[in-house]
Amino acid sequence: MSRAVQFSRHGGPEVLDVVEVDEPHAGTGTVRVRVRAAGLNAFDFKVRQDASYLPSKKLPSGQGQEFAGVVNEVGDGVEGFAVGDEVLGWVSFAAQADYVVVPPSQLAPKPAGLDWATAAGIGLVGNTARRATDAVSPGPGDTVLVSAAAGGVGLLECQLAIRAGATVIGTASEANHEFLRSLGVIPVTYGPGLADRVRAAAPEGITAVLDNAGEETVLLGLELGVDPKRINTIVYHAGVDEYGIQAVGGGKKNSAELAELARLVADGDLVLPVAATYPLGEVREAYTRLESRHLLGKIVLLTD
Ligand SMILES: NC(=O)c1ccc[n+]([C@@H]2O[C@H](COP(=O)([O-])OP(=O)(O)OC[C@H]3O[C@@H](n4cnc5c(N)ncnc54)[C@H](OP(=O)(O)O)[C@@H]3O)[C@@H](O)[C@H]2O)c1
Repeated sequence: MSRAVQFSRHGGPEVLDVVEVDEPHAGTGTVRVRVRAAGLNAFDFKVRQDASYLPSKKLPSGQGQEFAGVVNEVGDGVEGFAVGDEVLGWVSFAAQADYVVVPPSQLAPKPAGLDWATAAGIGLVGNTARRATDAVSPGPGDTVLVSAAAGGVGLLECQLAIRAGATVIGTASEANHEFLRSLGVIPVTYGPGLADRVRAAAPEGITAVLDNAGEETVLLGLELGVDPKRINTIVYHAGVDEYGIQAVGGGKKNSAELAELARLVADGDLVLPVAATYPLGEVREAYTRLESRHLLGKIVLLTD
């Protein structure tokens, strides 16, 4: 037997259980990974809280979209991975468990210097940040406003935009300002008065917006004259029809991209802090923390 996080009804973190399940095994064309760490994402709790968020979701459901661990079974026909390889990868609603079974196309090698928790947290936010940032093509001469800049997606977007040569203003609570400054981001506090603070931080104006928090930042971008095609949101989907903004989020994941993101984090070229880790058995506490929505980086479950 092995452990897996599941929920059998929609609700808060209290509906999450760690249950005993039959140990899965690698079949033809798949690899079994002994999970060491599994990341948490807002997507997980949005689906769990509200049946209408993903109507196709059948219950009971597993939980978790991203993991890092050690390959310990390799099915027939698999090339490129061997027992003992350290990997990170993605899987749909199944990562928070002792084992996952996936095709090798959903795995990337874990760089030796990368710790398990960080490796497990890169996949979903990394893919999303890359797609969203590419959607507004930041470059030298741009000043980009990034909301929820201390969240997993926002932190990586800020750094990708800076690497592309842009100046970045990021919205966050005061407690996260110093960290954002250390990355080269100009931090501003979100909430009432945001427009004045952004004008003061960017007297020459802003040229693109990466929104991870909702209406406030999108409307401010429009008010400040940003071309709607250079405003991308991953949460305020109503703004697409209403204002002609973009809503490019995560998707089209691929192993090469995940490997590259992992390398960048391992080399210190991208920074993704882990705000806290919890043992698998404390999955409810972990989501309670995530659902507080005030974090610097990722929350990750550890299986050992
Ligand atoms: N469409 C997609 O493909 C896609 C993919 C990934 C994520 N998402 C969504 O994108 C959002 C961000 O995800 P995430 O994983 O980065 O982290 P998250 O856990 O949702 O965000 C945490 C951050 O949100 C900030 N925050 C909380 N309330 C805020 C507000 N009113 N205004 C501005 N910032 C606020 C917090 O900042 P402080 O701690 O500084 O207060 C914290 O750093 C989530 O809603 C998620 O569901 C969408």
